[in-house]
Amino acid sequence: MTLHIEPSDTTIGARILDLPLHRPLDEVEQAAVEKAIYDHSVIVFPDQQISQADLVRFTNYFGIAVPHVRKQLDNRELEEIFIVSNVKENGEPIGALGNAELTFHSDLSYLHEPGTLSILYAIEIPAEGGDTHWCDCYAAYDGLSDEMKHRLVKLRAVHRHYVEGQNPETPASHPVVCTHPATGRKALYVGPHLTKYIEGVSDAESEDLLSRLYEHALRPEYVYRHRWGVGDLVVFDNRCTMHRRDPFPDEQRRVMWRTQIFNDVSPVP
Ligand code: SIN
Repeated sequence: MTLHIEPSDTTIGARILDLPLHRPLDEVEQAAVEKAIYDHSVIVFPDQQISQADLVRFTNYFGIAVPHVRKQLDNRELEEIFIVSNVKENGEPIGALGNAELTFHSDLSYLHEPGTLSILYAIEIPAEGGDTHWCDCYAAYDGLSDEMKHRLVKLRAVHRHYVEGQNPETPASHPVVCTHPATGRKALYVGPHLTKYIEGVSDAESEDLLSRLYEHALRPEYVYRHRWGVGDLVVFDNRCTMHRRDPFPDEQRRVMWRTQIFNDVSPVP
C-alpha cells in the first residue's frame, strides 16, 4: 500500500492527499500513516469530513485518546475531544485558548507524562490569522555545535502551565534533549511557552541558555507554517516538534477539535 505523501519545503511536515478518514483504516493503512508521522513529524490530511467519533477512532490507532486535563463546557459529544476556540455561547467560552498568540510549546509538557501525538481538526477558521507553525526539534538539535550538544547532555528543565490548577503538585522536569522512543533520534525539548528554567544552574545562566536555544531552534528553515482550510486534519508528534499559533481577530470565529495521546513514561533520553 503506497500513500501519496507530499513533503513540505522545510525539514518538517508533509501532506497525505488520498486517504479519507471518515472510514476505519485497515492495519496496513494505519502502519503507513504511523511511518509517515515518524518520517515527517507533522502530517496534514486536507479537506476531510469526519465526526467526533471518527476523530477519536483515528487517534486511537496511535495510542489511547485521553480527555484533556483542562475542564470544558460539556457540550461535546465525546470527552476525548478538546475544543480549541475563541467562540463564546451565552457569554461562556465553548473551548480553550482564545484568539491570542500562543508561543512555541510542546503539548502537555507541564505534566510528568506529557503528550505524544496531538491531532487538530479545523471546523471553522478565521479569514485572517490563526496559522499554526511547527518547529522541527530534531533538525534544531542536529544543527547545534558539538560543544553545545555536549553541554546539554545532562541538563533538565522544569515545565509549568500558566494556569496553576492544571499543573501537577510537583513540577514536571524533563531532559533538555530527549530521544524519541520510536525513531531513536534526539530532539530539543524546551519551548518558551511552558519551559520555566533549567535545573542546577543560576537563573541568569538558565535564561541565557534558553534564549540561545530558542533563537537557534526557531529559525525559519526548521519551521513549517500551516494556513488552515476547513476540514484540514493535522497530526503532530510533540516529542520532536514544538508549535505556535498566530493571533487572529476575536470577532472572527475559529473552532478546532483536538485529541491528544499521553505518554506512559517521561520522554527519557
Ligand atoms: C494548541 O496549541 O494546542 C493549539 C494550536 C492552534 O490553535 O493552532
